[in-house]
Amino acid sequence: MMQPVTREIALGSTWHHGLIAKWWAEFNDDFRPHEVPYFQRYVEQGEPALEVACGTGRLLIPYVRAGLDVDGCDVSADMVACCREKAEREGLPVSLFVQPMHELDLPRRYRTIYVCGAFGLGSTREQDLEALRRFHRHLEHDGTLLVDIEVPYADKQLWPYWLKGERSSLPEPAGRPQKRRRASDGTDLGLRSRIVDVDPLAQRVSYEMHAEQWRDGVLEAEETHLLTINMYFKEELLTMLERAAFTDVIVEGDHNDSAPTRDDDFLVFVARK
Ligand SMILES: C[S@@+](CC[C@H](N)C(=O)[O-])C[C@H]1O[C@@H](n2cnc3c(N)ncnc32)[C@H](O)[C@@H]1O
Repeated sequence: MMQPVTREIALGSTWHHGLIAKWWAEFNDDFRPHEVPYFQRYVEQGEPALEVACGTGRLLIPYVRAGLDVDGCDVSADMVACCREKAEREGLPVSLFVQPMHELDLPRRYRTIYVCGAFGLGSTREQDLEALRRFHRHLEHDGTLLVDIEVPYADKQLWPYWLKGERSSLPEPAGRPQKRRRASDGTDLGLRSRIVDVDPLAQRVSYEMHAEQWRDGVLEAEETHLLTINMYFKEELLTMLERAAFTDVIVEGDHNDSAPTRDDDFLVFVARK
């Protein structure tokens, strides 16, 4: 029997590498579909645009397909490689870069920069502030920044661990893998994640993801990756945007062009340079 290949990797602290990048490329194009038209309307009003943390191109590829001028960057070379492969398959012209957002340094300036599902991932709070400053630097005068966050109280599995008594049971036990799904190369992929730590003082949560790849019922590869997320409340991010020299910041609800409510799980910050 073939021995499984085990890779223990903690690159920075984002888990979007290896088999998890493959999972994103294969299965996540339909994830949270209402986000796609939401950001697209802003891009249509302000080209060229940059997607920071573009991942495997869930948003970027449809925009480029629609003829919009959008570049992408991401800290994960594996996610970028999947995105590039998708673009090349369709013959779409796209400029992609591998950079962490706090080291963003690109030759072009943009009318729109947007970050979807990635602010606070695999970074320190100081790096997050530096990232906002870099976004400011990469925008044209009057350009628009869009950054979304999932609010800390959105996840009912996570929220109880802000309490001391609940937190002492962490890390969570390794759960069962998600049902395996068949990828386009005939392998079957399965994931399982768990909360490892919640630090309410630092407002940071750490997760672990275990990924497996099977072929014909035989385990071919397995990987374990870590992800840390800095959690932000609305007022804190508003202050950071101000410190990064943004003006006229408005906050919208869950990618819906409306004022936020206390029931929104996601908030979008729309800031002008
Ligand atoms: C949840 S995925 C979202 C991808 C894409 N924006 C989307 O909505 O489909 C998060 C992405 O953020 C990237 N990422 C995480 N930390 C990052 C950082 N510090 N700088 C740049 N990209 C980062 C990951 O590699 C991953 O591709």
